[in-house]
Amino acid sequence: MRSVTVAATTPYEVCVELDLDLKDAVSAALPPGAAILLTDSTVGPLHASSTDEALKEAGWALADVVTVPAGEGSKSLSAYELVIRKLARAGVPREGTLFALGGGVVGDLGGFVASSYMRGINFVQLPTSLLAMVDSSVGGKVGLDLPEGKNLVGAFLQPRLVAANLNWLETLPPREVSHGLAEVVKMGLLAGGKFFEDLRRLLGDARAGNLEALQALILHSVRAKAAVVAEDEREVGLRAVLNYGHTIGHGLEAAAGYVLPHGKAVAAGMLAAARLSRELLGADLLKTHEDLLHAAGLPLKVPAVDVESVLRAMGRDKKRRASDKAYTYRFVLLEDVGRPRRDVPVGVAEVRRAVEAVLGA
Ligand SMILES: NC(=O)c1ccc[n+]([C@@H]2O[C@H](COP(=O)([O-])OP(=O)(O)OC[C@H]3O[C@@H](n4cnc5c(N)ncnc54)[C@H](O)[C@@H]3O)[C@@H](O)[C@H]2O)c1
Ligand SMILES: [Zn+2]
Repeated sequence: MRSVTVAATTPYEVCVELDLDLKDAVSAALPPGAAILLTDSTVGPLHASSTDEALKEAGWALADVVTVPAGEGSKSLSAYELVIRKLARAGVPREGTLFALGGGVVGDLGGFVASSYMRGINFVQLPTSLLAMVDSSVGGKVGLDLPEGKNLVGAFLQPRLVAANLNWLETLPPREVSHGLAEVVKMGLLAGGKFFEDLRRLLGDARAGNLEALQALILHSVRAKAAVVAEDEREVGLRAVLNYGHTIGHGLEAAAGYVLPHGKAVAAGMLAAARLSRELLGADLLKTHEDLLHAAGLPLKVPAVDVESVLRAMGRDKKRRASDKAYTYRFVLLEDVGRPRRDVPVGVAEVRRAVEAVLGA
C-alpha cells in the first residue's frame, strides 16, 4: 500500500491507493467499535454506502450516517450544533470514532466535532476531494468559519488514519480538481526540488484525470506537509509557511461571504503574495506562479469584492500579533522557489495594491 507516515505525537498513516482496501486500512489503525459517518449531500449518495459496507466488514457498527449540505456553508456553528447533537442522540461513547467522508469541509467540521464531543473521540479522515487528499486531511487542523473570518473557531486533532481511495476522484468535477491543484502548486513552490521539477508535467496529466499523475502529486504533497507537521505540530513557528497565499486568500473568502471556492482564493492569494515577494524581497516569481496556476486550470483573478472588507477580515487573521500596528500584516513570502520566509511585516498600502491586482475576474 502506498502510504506516508505522519510523525506526529501519535503517528498515523496516510494511505493513497487506487482500489484502496478500506477494511484493511482501518483495521490496521484502530480496533472496531461504535462510530458515526459524516458526509455531505453530494458525496454521501456517491460513496457512503460502499464505505459503510467496508466498515461493517471490518467489524464496525455505524450508529448513524450524518449528511450536511455540500459546500463551505457547512463549516458553520449551526452545522456544528446539528452534527454534535446527532452524535449525542446516537449515543456515541467516549471511545467512539467519527469517520469524515468528504472534502475539506466535511473533514474540518467533522474533526472539530470529534475534538470537542466528550472532550475528544477518535477521528478518521476519508478524503474524497483532491484538495482534502493533498492538504486538509493531513496535519490535524480542524475548525469552522465565522462570518467575521475564516477558520476562527478550531482545534488541533490529529486523525488516527487518513485513507484516500483514488477511485473517489473519478466522480470529482474537473473544477474541483483544479481547486485541489491550487494547494499542490502551493506545496510545490514551498518545497522546491524534485517535487517542483515534476509539477509542471504532472499538472497537465492530473487535470486530464490521469490517476497515476494524481497519485504522484498527492504523495509529493502529503510527504512535504508531513515533514513540516512533524517539525511543528501545533504551529509554533515553521508550520506557518503552509499558509502561503492564505492570508489574502482567507480575506477574499470572508469578504465574498464564503461563496468563493478555497482553491481559487488561495490561487489569487499566491499571486498577490508573489507580487509582494517581488516588491519586498526582489524575487521575480510572478510568471512562474501564473504559468503553474494556468496549467492547473485556475483563473488569475477572482470576482471583485470590497477591498476594505478583505483587509478587515485579514485584520482578524490568527497570524497577526497583538503587538502589530494597525497598518501591518504578517506574510509568508518567497525568496525563491523552495525558500519561504515567514513573518514578513507588510504595510497596509502594499497589501491593498496586491489585493487590487487580483480582483476583477
Ligand atoms: N484543515 C486544513 O489543514 C485545511 C487545509 C486546506 C484547506 N482546508 C479547508 O478545506 C476546505 C476546502 O476543501 P474542498 O475544496 O475539499 O471543499 P469541499 O469539501 O466543499 O468539496 C468541494 C466540493 O466537491 C464535492 N466533492 C468532494 N468529493 C467529491 C467526490 N469524490 N465526487 C464528487 N464530488 C465531490 C463536495 O461535495 C463539494 O461540493 C476549506 O474550508 C478550507 O479552508 C483545510
Ligand atoms: Zn488551503
